[in-house]
Formats: sequence, structure tokens, C-alpha cells
Amino acid sequence: MRREEYWEDIGENGITVYLYDSLDSTNNQAWRLREEENKEFPLVVIAERQLAGKGQRGKRWESARGGLYLSLGLNLNLPLDAVPHLTIFSAAAIAETLNEQNIPVRIKWLNDLVLGEKKLGGILWETKTENRLITAGVVGVGINYENTPPWGGISLKSYFHSTIAPQLPPRQLLARQVIYSLIKGYNDYLNSGMESIINTYNKFLFHLDKEVKLGDNRGRILEVDKGGDLLVKMEGKNAKTVVRLSPEEYKLSYETEEGTYLVRRRE
Ligand code: BTN
Repeated sequence: MRREEYWEDIGENGITVYLYDSLDSTNNQAWRLREEENKEFPLVVIAERQLAGKGQRGKRWESARGGLYLSLGLNLNLPLDAVPHLTIFSAAAIAETLNEQNIPVRIKWLNDLVLGEKKLGGILWETKTENRLITAGVVGVGINYENTPPWGGISLKSYFHSTIAPQLPPRQLLARQVIYSLIKGYNDYLNSGMESIINTYNKFLFHLDKEVKLGDNRGRILEVDKGGDLLVKMEGKNAKTVVRLSPEEYKLSYETEEGTYLVRRRE
């Protein structure tokens, strides 16, 4: 089932939005519209549920009804080393927009959206490259809106129930705000580069300045750099050492052990 809308107030010239009841994955559908149905990017795909929602690193993204599942397809013209920037500007832009709406979302390195120490949503970029240039990309965003979130997750609705917060924004409005912020984030990136984007990203970094355990050593989170690496200042006899961790190899825990978060190597 498909409905087509045109959101004229988004982007420079408005944007076409394809709405579905059920899809395998909104990311897959965005690519199919471009490659099989000759639709031009930019475009947006939104589904009420996904049967094969995709998460980071080949994981599944649980996508029952009640969640927000959307993808934005963009034509790009960027060098290959810009890949980490895509996730960083997207997370920073969404976090900034939601915080402006009094939803105190934080970013968990590298691309989780966190609310009250639990996972609210995630971002998945897929890119096409030709001759060492990124020529197109699809960014997918999943937000637990009023679905029962997976273990360790939180839905926006339950958060609004449990706090003296303003009213839960309608899902359609949230979708618009996410798309708007992604397009704005991309334009800011093109116009001004990573300098101010990485500051915004770090401002909303969930683990900023938190104490962490890395093996037997302790440290403090300094920042995420423009390439997406996490910088940790080690304490004790390694006090002067700053270690740089790549998101491909390491992840941070949501839970603490006696007030300390854990840096774990990915399996
Ligand atoms: C993550 O693992 O944190 C990223 C999750 C991204 C999920 C979204 S839901 C909409 C879009 N379509 C997909 O198949 N995945 C992304």
C-alpha cells in the first residue's frame, strides 16, 4: 500500500514522501525507488512497520507498529573519508532538534539516540560509491515512539508518561522534524564543515566526562573527534595518555559498574 505526499516546506524545493503500511526496510525501499522506479533523490520513505528492519553491523532492527521508521535518500558528492561525518552530522542534528523541543536526547557513541540512559533510536547510513566518491546515500532513522521497545530500550511515549514533560509530539510531526534536521545538518556540513558539528555532537554526548573502565585501567571520556574516534584520558600511572578508540572496534556500555561505564571490544 502506498501514498505519495509532497512536503513543500522541507528542503530547498520541498521533498516527495512515500508512505507505506509495511515494508521490509525503508532503507531498501529508498534504494529500490531510485534504482528500479527511476525516482530521483532526494526522497523520503516512511513505513508503519518493517519486516526486516536493518540495524548497525548487520543486526536486526525490531520494527513493530507504533515506532517511527523513515529513510532519506540524498545525492551526494563527497570523498570516501567523509563516511564517518555522515553519521556524526545526522546524530548531532537530530539531537539538537529534539532538545529544542524539550526532549533531552543524548548521543551514545557513535550513533545511538539515548533518553534517560536507555536507547531511544538509531541511525543507519548506506552509501553508493563510484570512482572513490560517495555519490548517493540513504540515511535511515528508527525511533521507539509508542511501540514496546526491545530490552534496554525506551519509547518516547513511556518517557513522556514518566516525567513532567510537555506533550508527546504527534508521530507525523516528529517525522518532519527528523527529516528537516537531517537536511539542515547536511547543508551545514557542506557549508561549514565538521568544526561546529563536532562541537554540537560532543555537547550531546551521553558519556562526556564520564569515568570509564578500559580493561584494568580507568579513564575519562574527553570527546569524539571528527573521524568518529573516541578519545579517553587515562588516569593513574598512565595519567598523561590519551587513547583513541575506533567505533569499529570498541563500544561503550549503557550500564555502570560502581558508577563506571565499561569500554568493551566488539566481538
Ligand atoms: C542502529 O542499529 O542503531 C541503527 C538502526 C536504524 C533503524 C532504521 S529504521 C528505518 C531504517 N530502515 C532500516 O531498515 N533501518 C533504519
